Amino acid sequence: MKIIIINGPNLNLLGNRENNIYGNETFTDFFAKLQQKFSKIELSHFQSNIEGELIDKIQETGYNYDGIILNAAAYTHTSVGIADAVKAITTPVVEVHISNTFSREDFRHKSYISPNAKGIIVGFGLQGYELALLSLVPSPQAS
Ligand code: DQA
Repeated sequence: MKIIIINGPNLNLLGNRENNIYGNETFTDFFAKLQQKFSKIELSHFQSNIEGELIDKIQETGYNYDGIILNAAAYTHTSVGIADAVKAITTPVVEVHISNTFSREDFRHKSYISPNAKGIIVGFGLQGYELALLSLVPSPQAS
């Protein structure tokens, strides 16, 4: 089973960025633990600060992977291009946000991705990625 986590702009700064909102752990450390825990899954990770690169990766994995876990970060609230890519593909997309975007500024309440996501996990910190993974994986394969 092949699942990819795609992270958008500034998520490369996790662990160093607004720790009160996003926590102290780097994504690299978190991802290593997740891979270990779900060792039966072919789990990969891609991060980019560039909108077109995120679209390229969604297209590349959107027909041959079993799931995409997508945190498009700020592009969630602005990008028709990423939303169209999510709509175009056949791989299910679970949208994740580390913070509770609904308890933050109004502009974070709008997601262009949500209408075409399989589901949305918001506000559970990095654990949200694990919850998304569990939602995509049949339970005997979970770990
Ligand atoms: C975020 C929420 C977005 O509003 C913000 O721009 C991010 C991260 C989250 O994971 O909480 O960069 O997607």
